Amino acid sequence: MDHALKMDRIYAVQRHFYDVTRRFYLLGRDRLLEGLPAPKNGRVLEVGCGTGRNLERLRRLRPDLRLCGLDISRKMLETAGRKLEGSGVALTCCPAERLGCAVVGTDEPFDAVFFSYSLSMIPAWGPALEAAWALLRPGGTLAVVDFWGEGGLPGWLHWAHSRWLDLFGVSFRPELLGYLRNMERAGRANLSMESVRGGYAYLAWVRKITD
Ligand SMILES: C[S@@+](CC[C@H](N)C(=O)[O-])C[C@H]1O[C@@H](n2cnc3c(N)ncnc32)[C@H](O)[C@@H]1O
Repeated sequence: MDHALKMDRIYAVQRHFYDVTRRFYLLGRDRLLEGLPAPKNGRVLEVGCGTGRNLERLRRLRPDLRLCGLDISRKMLETAGRKLEGSGVALTCCPAERLGCAVVGTDEPFDAVFFSYSLSMIPAWGPALEAAWALLRPGGTLAVVDFWGEGGLPGWLHWAHSRWLDLFGVSFRPELLGYLRNMERAGRANLSMESVRGGYAYLAWVRKITD
């Protein structure tokens, strides 16, 4: 099935109670928003912004920032659009892997780009990450918060948790952290990692040195 259609099907009904239910298990999102290093009046993009929950919070925390959100699901963006109406936050419907200047409407680079529990749902996560990287200025930060599965839960509960996440099209991606470490080894980035709730999730801060 087409991925955009799949996301719309998953979220058609869930988006109406998404924000209330996800606060219990999409952990670390507020830590990311509070720690996001962006200069005054900087530009920030969320890839896979869903209902716009994070963008709304960030707007309250940092009203000076110029915010954009992108998602593949029109249904999610309908909800985000209602929530952020009149806020000046720009929303775009596009697959993350096709992200580019034309999609965001300008070639002004971003000071920060973040993925909050979206890379685990994006099948082409490598191209999506690189597309976001290309839009980031040198010295800017790419931040990722997502499921880690490295601890925090006993084995059987971890197994049940991953089966349950499967139902929503979510996959643990340990290879993603290897990819970020390789970016650092190649001199493209400085990486710092934090564990959220004993390894349940991770928060990665990837400072751009070069493309
Ligand atoms: C688990 S939700 C996270 C939403 C939000 N970032 C949050 O933290 O609440 C994942 C989001 O990623 C979006 N998504 C999945 N695949 C995508 C893709 N290829 N391109 C853009 N967005 C995608 C989904 O539509 C969904 O809104």
